[in-house]
Amino acid sequence: LNKLNLGCGNRFHDDWVNVDFVSHSPLVKQHNLLKGIPFKDHSFDVVYHSHVLEHFTKNDGKKLIDNCFSVLKNHGIIRIAVPDLESIVKNYLIELQKGWENKTHANPNYDWMLLELFDQTVRNEYGGEIKKILGKTNLENEQFIFNRIGEEARHIRNSFLQNRQSPKKSSLFLSLLHKLFQNNLENWTIGKFRKSGEIHQWMYDKYSLKQLLESVGFTGFKIQSAFTSQIHDWNLYELDSKDGIIFKPDSIFVEAQKII
Ligand SMILES: C[S@@+](CC[C@H](N)C(=O)[O-])C[C@H]1O[C@@H](n2cnc3c(N)ncnc32)[C@H](O)[C@@H]1O
Repeated sequence: LNKLNLGCGNRFHDDWVNVDFVSHSPLVKQHNLLKGIPFKDHSFDVVYHSHVLEHFTKNDGKKLIDNCFSVLKNHGIIRIAVPDLESIVKNYLIELQKGWENKTHANPNYDWMLLELFDQTVRNEYGGEIKKILGKTNLENEQFIFNRIGEEARHIRNSFLQNRQSPKKSSLFLSLLHKLFQNNLENWTIGKFRKSGEIHQWMYDKYSLKQLLESVGFTGFKIQSAFTSQIHDWNLYELDSKDGIIFKPDSIFVEAQKII
């Protein structure tokens, strides 16, 4: 089977063709997916992307899904994982109610759910507010956060705690540039960051994913778990889970088929 993993980040397998605009491995083809998918139509049996679609605007996301349809062979399968807006909103409402009823105490879980909703969309610098929270020495709702976004958060937290650095001094040249072009430089820095692929530009749930997939021609929409799939030997590739641990438990996992 010819299998394609788009926006793979550090999660790729050598049985797959892997693509990302940041590549640190010869196994990952460097390419900006906003420019399309760099392969001929009808060349893959499987296209997969995890936590990539939400980094595209709604329009560009539709183009991405349309391009996935084109590169798939007839009977090919698309598998998508994205943060599940429905689960985020449900948890937000639960924590809102708890916070409201318990008026004397702050509810850090409520604060966290707000971050899941907004931080990756509104941030203008790497890591945003989530980085600040995960880097706190005393994190009272650590387990809640790890349950929400997975063991990956533990790694991020450990690396933040280990790599605490004092702010770098900027060079004389940069300070001069800052003085001369302060506003332009700030706009440029924010613009560059916001186009770097880190921020979320849209969010999805089962309903909008089904509509999106069907709008470009996919059929047989199915909600899966991290462990279930129509892709043969899915768990062998360890893309959504390893040893029973789900990498991104805040996800909805869906599949659909191209049948023409
Ligand atoms: C949140 S990470 C997910 C990585 C991996 N799929 C996973 O599930 O762990 C999003 C990835 O999409 C990549 N990405 C975002 N926009 C992209 C684009 N326009 N072209 C190619 N890759 C892109 C980023 O570089 C990043 O590696």
